[in-house]
Amino acid sequence: MNSEQKPRGYNWYTVTEDDLKYAPPYLRDVPETPKEVECKLAGTWPTWLHGSFLRVGVGRFTVPLSDDDSKPKAVFSIFLTPRRGMHLPQDKNPYSRGTQSANPATEEILVHSDWNIMQICDARTLEPKRLLTYAQIDPELAGYGSCAHPPHDHVAANPAALVWKSPLPCKPCYTHALAMTDKYVVFVRNPVHMDTSDTTKPLCDMMICEHDSPTQFFILDKTDGKHVGTYQSKNFYFFHTVNAYDYVDPTTGGVNIHVDIISYKDDHYPYSEYSIGNILDPLKPFQNGTLVRYQMDSVDRADLGKVGRVSIASAIAGLPCELPRISKPASMDSSYRYVYGVSGNGVPAPGTEVPIGRLGNGLKVVHSSFYGYLFKSDWQTGTFKLWKPQNGESCPSEPIFIQRPGATDEDDGIVISIMINREGTHSILIGLDGKTFEEVARADMPQVYALGPHGSFVEGDFGL
Ligand SMILES: [Fe+2]
Repeated sequence: MNSEQKPRGYNWYTVTEDDLKYAPPYLRDVPETPKEVECKLAGTWPTWLHGSFLRVGVGRFTVPLSDDDSKPKAVFSIFLTPRRGMHLPQDKNPYSRGTQSANPATEEILVHSDWNIMQICDARTLEPKRLLTYAQIDPELAGYGSCAHPPHDHVAANPAALVWKSPLPCKPCYTHALAMTDKYVVFVRNPVHMDTSDTTKPLCDMMICEHDSPTQFFILDKTDGKHVGTYQSKNFYFFHTVNAYDYVDPTTGGVNIHVDIISYKDDHYPYSEYSIGNILDPLKPFQNGTLVRYQMDSVDRADLGKVGRVSIASAIAGLPCELPRISKPASMDSSYRYVYGVSGNGVPAPGTEVPIGRLGNGLKVVHSSFYGYLFKSDWQTGTFKLWKPQNGESCPSEPIFIQRPGATDEDDGIVISIMINREGTHSILIGLDGKTFEEVARADMPQVYALGPHGSFVEGDFGL
């Protein structure tokens, strides 16, 4: 099926077994590796670097069907964001195994998704233990949706509990991330809603962009959830918030908020571009997100009877970007400067022998469909650096910055990412110096790492 023949209702989540030959190794089944394996190291890994790098990957892309030879294939696991475990209640899921650890922050991994479901895995073996919903924390939290990136305070409740619940004066939407400052939670209403009239449709075809809707920002007091202000900007879409903070405006004396977002503006939501069918046979060039700083003025004096205006305080021009990360101490810090992420979706990967999609086979046009570069941007100067694989490697994953203990400079640390080697035979964990953004170390993994969107680095003896 070529792109002209793809009807809108084409199931972008599955491809036939015949089309699997167009998939790169990191979009195919990978062997389970339950035991620890050693990696071949090169370069100089920092001696202070000690911890666990958790990533969510797919593992199995093919699922045999019972009554024909075709095999469906999913592009992403529904579980998206891994982090340290927290104190969650017992669940009634009959398939759950094991019980809540007494020390979930060091012994369990909690994986969030876009839906009201959480998976708990053992931090050492990675074995899934439990599957529960937010309703098991509190029945008030029943429902379908959630967001894959809930912000979290450093002080976690034990046990987890509902602190507040706040109704918002807007239509339901699909949202992937919230934003939070010291004083406020900001719900940015992604102007995309789900058409649930036909639930047999693929998810991305249920997503309806509201091109004529402004993008609304609802400001909630973090202590009690009280809705204190509503602002809106011209229409844009997004997956990821990068950071947010509140600060006192020296000119007005009011409290302003900045929310930094990877912002999109096109005729469709980019979700569908990440489906397996489109990666192997792109309908058109991939959309590029832009790093934009949105500003709301005097939220402490906001009048709920009026809708305030969101202005654009800054943007990183000329940088296509996604999967943004910052240093942990930079979270909610008004003076933070640096954002790290992936750039160049669909750009060529010079020297790679890993083809992606039909253009990568037969025509000798090879390209890295899923991101080509890593970036580091600087809000203070408005500039950015790109890191490009040098030896035919491709598809670097979401970069994670780890700050050196005792660092005084925000970018004093190392950035880690996983890419595929030139031949596509194994993946490589790479380390870039946080300041220079140049490679300092690498580790050849014995196997291919299957692509997934997000990861976390947990310092210390996590899972040991
Ligand atoms: Fe995400």
